[in-house]
Amino acid sequence: MTTSPSKILVWDWTIRLVHWLMVVLVPLLWWTAEEGHMDWHKSLGLTMFSLVLFRLIWGFMGSWTARFVPMVRRIGSLRPYLGTLRNRQFAPTFGHSPLSVLSVFALLLALVTQVTTGLFSVDVDGLESGPLAIWISFETGREAADIHEFNFKILSLLIGLHLIAIAIYRFVIKEKLVWPMISGHRDRQDFPSDLLPENRAHLLPVIIAATLSLASVFALVNLG
Ligand code: HEM
Ligand code: HEM
Repeated sequence: MTTSPSKILVWDWTIRLVHWLMVVLVPLLWWTAEEGHMDWHKSLGLTMFSLVLFRLIWGFMGSWTARFVPMVRRIGSLRPYLGTLRNRQFAPTFGHSPLSVLSVFALLLALVTQVTTGLFSVDVDGLESGPLAIWISFETGREAADIHEFNFKILSLLIGLHLIAIAIYRFVIKEKLVWPMISGHRDRQDFPSDLLPENRAHLLPVIIAATLSLASVFALVNLG
């Protein structure tokens, strides 16, 4: 536990890097699939796979605001949190608010579904496929592709809601969430508590999580 003078780290650099890379990759993945640049689509898809896997591992060994266990615990205070929004007695949360925990889990689940189904997808004439499609029948590969296509609609919807929520926080609640996701920091005075969790990304867990996610992509490429 540490205290610090004027600014405090809320999002470590890996959370921010993974987030903004995802923001760039999702439109590129859509565009490459639409235009039929499937070699690019699959390479970018595998990059996305490694980012999603990194984020999942980071949820168990990363900085405090990245960890899934405190995030799940926060869901328990959803009702009082919604009450503070209604009564206009809003107080910022150190890390994801109980409401944003739900949206983050929904986004991560949609991303996991998207990358997993992509690995098994086969296109209609069997020419393009994900690296694991050789392990399943053509029909199952087509079913994976159907889910891949449908889930992209769900992912797009969730991203739309994510952006609307951020705009509501900015313009109705007057809470600026985007800058901390860029700089990592917020004003220390936003949080009255004397003791806040130490929130840095430590080098060893970064190396372990990055190695595991890159090794998985390497294994996938060589299995396919
Ligand atoms: C492809 C589009 C996007 C995806 C898939 C996405 C996904 C996510 C995910 C998974 C998180 C959780 C971060 C974590 O704990 O790892 C998150 C948080 C966040 N995102 Fe995005 N995001 C997208 C676009 C954007 C854009 C365009 C903005 C800014 C305008 C934005 C601003 C934020 C902010 C401010 C948070 C932190 C929310 C909080 O305070 O709890 N996101 N996003
Ligand atoms: C978040 C990550 C991903 C996104 C947003 C995404 C998005 C898309 C979209 C929008 C399509 C077109 C669906 C259609 O209209 O038929 C598509 C097709 C496809 N994707 Fe992905 N994709 C992702 C990851 C992957 C991965 C990891 C792979 C494999 C390495 C992959 C392989 C494919 C294949 C083979 C198709 C063709 C399926 C068909 O023609 O029916 N994708 N993807």
